[in-house]
Formats: sequence, C-alpha cells, structure tokens
Amino acid sequence: MGVQSSGNKWRKLVPVLAGLTPGRTLVTFGGAWSSHLRATATAGRLLGVPTVGLVRGDELAARPLNPALERCRTDGMRLHFVDRSRYRRKREPEIARSLLREAGVTAPYLVPEGGSGPAAVRGCAELGRELRGRADVVALACGTGGTLAGLTAGLGPEGHVLGVPVVKGGFLADEIRALHTAAFGSAMGSWSLDDRFHAGGYARLPAALDRFARGFEDRHGLAVERLYVAKLLYALTCLAEEGAFPPGTRVAAVITGVPGPGLSSGLPTG
Ligand SMILES: Cc1ncc(COP(=O)(O)O)c(C=O)c1O
Repeated sequence: MGVQSSGNKWRKLVPVLAGLTPGRTLVTFGGAWSSHLRATATAGRLLGVPTVGLVRGDELAARPLNPALERCRTDGMRLHFVDRSRYRRKREPEIARSLLREAGVTAPYLVPEGGSGPAAVRGCAELGRELRGRADVVALACGTGGTLAGLTAGLGPEGHVLGVPVVKGGFLADEIRALHTAAFGSAMGSWSLDDRFHAGGYARLPAALDRFARGFEDRHGLAVERLYVAKLLYALTCLAEEGAFPPGTRVAAVITGVPGPGLSSGLPTG
C-alpha cells in the first residue's frame, strides 16, 4: 500500500488504522478531488474492510464521477454526497449521527477529514525526525494542516517549517494549534504559513500555475501533483525571488504526493 497510497497519506493512515476492530466500516470525509478519500478506499480494499466516503457537495450526485471519485468506487468505497452546509458542521455529534444514518452505517470507524486526527499527526512526526539537522527551512503544502502539525513536532525547534495552504480562508493556523494540543498537549516547534498561494482555492488550477508546473516537469523530469505540490513549488520560486531565503539557507521541499488518476486535467480553473 505504500506505493498505492503516496506521500503523507500512508504515514497518516497507518497509526489511525491500528485502532480498527473487526465488523466496523471505515468512514471518512473529503471533497470531490480528495486524495485522502482515495487513500482510504485503497486501504479498505487491501485490508478487506468496507469503506464509506462522505463527499462534500450533494450536487455531485447528479454528475458523472470525476476520475478521483471513480477510483474510490473502483476500490469498493460507497459514496454518499452531503450538502455543503451540513458538511461544514460534520463535527457536531447530531449532524454526524444523521449523516451516518443516511449513509446506512451502523458500526462506523470514523477517520477525520484529511485523516488529520491526533494519531495521524503523531504519525507525521516521523517525517520531521527524518529531516532533523538536514534543513533550515522545511516547506510543504497544507490542506487540513495535519502533516505540518506532525512535521513541526518531529523536526524540533532548530528547523523552521513553512506551510503553503492550498485552501482559501485563513483558518488553518487555529486548526494547527488545535491539532498540536490534541496530539501532544501543547504548542510545538517553529512554523509559519504563507497564505498567498492558494490560487483561488482548493482544486483551483489557473492556467498560469499549470504552465509553471509543466515547465518544472520539463526542466526537472519530475511529475508534479497539481492540487498541492504545484502550489508549493510555485510559492518557493516566488519566495526565493523575493529574497526570503538568505544565501546558504538549506530549504527542503516535501513532495507530499504524486499525480493521481486524472488529477492534472478537469480541475476547475480561476
Ligand atoms: C499531495 C498532498 N499534499 C499535501 C496534503 C495536505 O495534507 P494535510 O491535510 O495534512 O495538510 C494532502 C492532503 O490530502 C495531499 O494529498
């Protein structure tokens, strides 16, 4: 599964799945292009565990599945589409209960959106430990912030973690502080976010960003995942041009994923 579920997904899911008991259905949440949904579907198939994906946007039910959701279904995940206002409130116990009832799940094993619960955050600390002493700045793209929360804890105070949110809204810093408290009991490490590079929001791929990613691929022979990694690499290029890294700074870019099925095409632009 390490190969089928790339990057940070594997580190997040392993500690979470350790608590799974027989007879339960793996239930998780995600948007239409969520790679966490795909990773969970793959894990379910490999482990022989039923999976249900609660997907943001009930309008999607009437449309053909995009390649990411099609892949979930091929892996056996049952998809249940949720209107956006209730999706936002999914952490409220009453809403969660009604969503599970509608999806017909009686014995759920709930994995939070993006896989980012305390166990997953602790799993991602290993990423930081591997980089300790090898970089002054470690940069990564953030969705829910779980990977960054773990990485900062593992890296320790001598390195700085720079997060590039791919989602619009500016709420991530609070989420990361909450994840630190939930996973470790206190604030951790040295980190900051640069909110300028979401390119319009989650799964938005303006033509200029796609061109940048294609240019990077041509120059370096490395396939660039568009939802997260393209925004990170673009951010680092801009920051370097702005002089954000003094000469001699060791910058590590964490490549958290590789392109998945169809993810470079069909994304909304703008
Ligand atoms: C390729 C990739 N990079 C980064 C992230 C962000 O991870 P997090 O939600 O922990 O911030 C994700 C999450 O789905 C991802 O798929």
